[in-house]
Amino acid sequence: MPKCRICGRKAVVYLRHSRLWLCSEHFNEFIENRVMRTIKRYNLIRKGDRVLLGLSGGKDSVVLAHILSKLRESIGFKLYLAHINLGIGEYSEKNAEVAKKISEKTNAPLIILDLRKILGVGIPELALKTRRPPCSVCGVVKRYLLNALAVELKANSIATGHNLDDMATFILKEFLVQNLEQIPKLAPRIEGVKDYLVAKIKPLYETYEEDIKKYAELNNILYVEEKCPLADETTLTWHLKKHLRDLEYRFPGLTIGFIRRLVKNIEKYPKPGDTIRRCSICGMPSSGKICSFCKITEKALGKPMGPHAREYIKEIV
Ligand code: FES
Ligand code: ZN
Ligand code: ZN
Repeated sequence: MPKCRICGRKAVVYLRHSRLWLCSEHFNEFIENRVMRTIKRYNLIRKGDRVLLGLSGGKDSVVLAHILSKLRESIGFKLYLAHINLGIGEYSEKNAEVAKKISEKTNAPLIILDLRKILGVGIPELALKTRRPPCSVCGVVKRYLLNALAVELKANSIATGHNLDDMATFILKEFLVQNLEQIPKLAPRIEGVKDYLVAKIKPLYETYEEDIKKYAELNNILYVEEKCPLADETTLTWHLKKHLRDLEYRFPGLTIGFIRRLVKNIEKYPKPGDTIRRCSICGMPSSGKICSFCKITEKALGKPMGPHAREYIKEIV
């Protein structure tokens, strides 16, 4: 029976990337230390910060909520949770239920933004009416609402549950299609612009997806296991992630080595050419004259809904 490398008790987890057998207590310590080190190394959270975490109900954001709630005292920051109900039938209802339970467990205030209450429609209708892939519409809506909420809350940063495997996959994809100026946008911290764009941070940047899953299992953390019914499993990103996992299995530690070297070299990639402007309709960040949220809602509903969404958020905050 393998023993924990630290204390010699019965081991329950083997970390291939670090060739380490650990008991559950030392596994928890390992993961929490790793997140803490990521936060310090990339200066993600500072003392006195107000951090808004986008809580979907899936394992990554739920585990991050638990870990951040544990670290909040030693770092000295305030944690807020935001859940966006995307209006994807039963799937969304399950996620909203989990979000409420996590808020109670972590003792962090939760704000729920319900897309059907704000716009009268959910992601499926928005995608259908704009003839865009649901995940791309969903990405625009989530980014917009989280940022608008963070602006109202005067948050210092928006934390998301993107993990090491996600980030390595996104970076590889941009490299394969030679969209090199997108790569700096995939750094662990992206600065904001005062008053209308809040900084984005990724505290799980150096944590393997598999370890996040194990952390949830060993600590009996509730999360929604099923995948979004609108997820497209034929995309390049989806296949890349699968192959990267196989490579990691054969060459343990490959992914973390890649991502650490990449961050060191990030200055060498071309800077994104598009300057961040403000949407002429709603005042939120945009690369063009009108932001994607206003464009999508105008196409689907006949009216750009950015100003309405911002009003709605102002009222509930
Ligand atoms: Fe966004 Fe499924 S969660 S499209
Ligand atoms: Zn141990
Ligand atoms: Zn707008």
